[in-house]
Amino acid sequence: MSEDRYLTFALGKGRLANKTMELLEKIGITCEEMKDKDSRKLIFVNEELKLKFFLSKGPDVPTYVEYGAADIGVVGKDTILEEDRRVYEVLDLGYGKCRMCVCGPKSAKELLQHHEMIRVASKYPNIAKDYFYNKKHQTVDIIKLNGSVELGPIVKLADVIVDIVETGSTLKENGLEVLEEICPLSARMIVNQVSMQMEPERIKKLITELKNHL
Ligand code: PRP
Repeated sequence: MSEDRYLTFALGKGRLANKTMELLEKIGITCEEMKDKDSRKLIFVNEELKLKFFLSKGPDVPTYVEYGAADIGVVGKDTILEEDRRVYEVLDLGYGKCRMCVCGPKSAKELLQHHEMIRVASKYPNIAKDYFYNKKHQTVDIIKLNGSVELGPIVKLADVIVDIVETGSTLKENGLEVLEEICPLSARMIVNQVSMQMEPERIKKLITELKNHL
């Protein structure tokens, strides 16, 4: 493949993208265009390094990477698990650390222990399904929500939720607690499978430099 080919990064909008740009800057990769907060541009270019960057909704990052619209993506492990796309997960970036947990009122602990048929609300129905069906062998009713999932048990839509816990303050302020831990999460770098074959040196060099900095 030609040296002139652009390597394209898809970054999940928000804090994760900012952290990623900070990290890339430490290994000499910058994108001045991206620093202009008033810009409405969607794609940013570093001509010198032949790099392109775009921001997307987190759950779309693995989609762009699987289809090769981006060579590289940075997104949370939660999204990688939920989307289950054919991509290589190559690096744990260490930031965005949190946990995927089953949460609810203390009283729901018993329902979990006795493998009762319960209702589980989550923004992550695939993760919830995998956990309850394949790991716990418990039949549950999964209800997909799009945010503020903690409301589920409060308004009696669900018995428990499967959600991200970072500081734990959202749970605490709503009288809920962690009942079971599913897995730890953090930001990960993913790579398109064909890009990895076509540009192995360039991508491996990037991974090594990032590793040395983490
Ligand atoms: C996430 C998550 C929890 C909260 C956890 O929600 O779904 O609600 O953060 O953080 P904490 O443990 O530090 O309180 P987010 O803010 O992304 O919004 P959402 O509820 O709309 O998904």
